Amino acid sequence: MTNRPLPAPLTDGLQLPLIVAPMFLVSGVDLVAAACLNGAIGAVPSLNARSPDILESWLADLTTRLDGARGAGRPAAPWAVNLVVHSTNKRLAPDLDLCVKYRAPLIITALGGPKAVVDTVHSYGGLVFADVNTPAYARKAAESGVDGLVLVCSGAGGHTGQMTAPAFVASVRSFFDGIIVVAGGLTSGQHLRAVQAMGADLGYMGTRFIATDESLAQPDYKQMVVDSQFSDIICTNAITGAYANKLRPSLVAAGLDPDNLKARSKFDMTTAAEDQKAWRDLWSAGHSVEQVKAIRSTAEAIADIGRDYDAVLAAEMNDPWRRVRQATGQVLKKATA
Ligand SMILES: Cc1cc2nc3c(=O)[nH]c(=O)nc-3n(C[C@H](O)[C@H](O)[C@H](O)COP(=O)(O)O)c2cc1C
Repeated sequence: MTNRPLPAPLTDGLQLPLIVAPMFLVSGVDLVAAACLNGAIGAVPSLNARSPDILESWLADLTTRLDGARGAGRPAAPWAVNLVVHSTNKRLAPDLDLCVKYRAPLIITALGGPKAVVDTVHSYGGLVFADVNTPAYARKAAESGVDGLVLVCSGAGGHTGQMTAPAFVASVRSFFDGIIVVAGGLTSGQHLRAVQAMGADLGYMGTRFIATDESLAQPDYKQMVVDSQFSDIICTNAITGAYANKLRPSLVAAGLDPDNLKARSKFDMTTAAEDQKAWRDLWSAGHSVEQVKAIRSTAEAIADIGRDYDAVLAAEMNDPWRRVRQATGQVLKKATA
């Protein structure tokens, strides 16, 4: 397996092929800084800061912390801002201006076409990844000149895709030569290596980082993630109009019957106030929820993932299938000689 090199804006300080995914009401400066200072790309949804002024103070704080670490000789991986590019998001223009001002190394667009931001971000040397959940959206985003695509596959926390990762990666690799990131169900170093073997470049992990010390999730939410199993996850479009994986116990606690939800088919950012409540009280996690066994620091979680990843790299050298395939090749050569 040969991994392709990543472009320069991403490699400085990056020690694992990992993006700690942006999560509404969960990711803040502490989580992003902890990710970057431990060698993974950290990402924050701009709308987690309740106003552009607050976003500016977050970006100032984040860049001060990361520059301080670099100044002291400690590596820090690049950071990303997640922008909702849906036409009803009135914050897009002011938030994009701040990304330009602070030269965000990576912008990850969500809930719409990335075209509106690509030239602006490229103008200062930043990269744009678009979050997509079908090959058709991936193709459209690729045509608008993005550097990477985040394939939101089935089982992802938050708004989820419906396609399995191997099928989605194979489909997109057939027409897109840029960076591919896989999202959905990843929690370990083995998983990062597996998505690379599929033809992707990086893995995205959200659910794994909800129950960290640095996340903004309420303590009861973190504990529910630790206590939940796959059977506690329900995939529904009843909350926001787009399919999302939610924790059943949080729906029950909010007085809803998870088995009798009313489907909603239209997603609209103008219902953002309602959606904010939907995400604050109706908690989300993906299929990997049962892999999260304790509330930990981000540093510990990333160190575990790094150890797994190193173990896979080491094991590949002595993989018994290497010998089997070499022997098979020799037998085939003899048979056809
Ligand atoms: C609580 C929660 C909130 C999320 N909010 C956002 C968001 O604001 N923007 C976004 O692009 N993706 C959001 N996501 C999706 C994640 O960025 C990512 O795609 C997903 O968590 C990956 O799947 P995993 O949870 O199985 O690791 C959210 C996910 C969760 C669990």
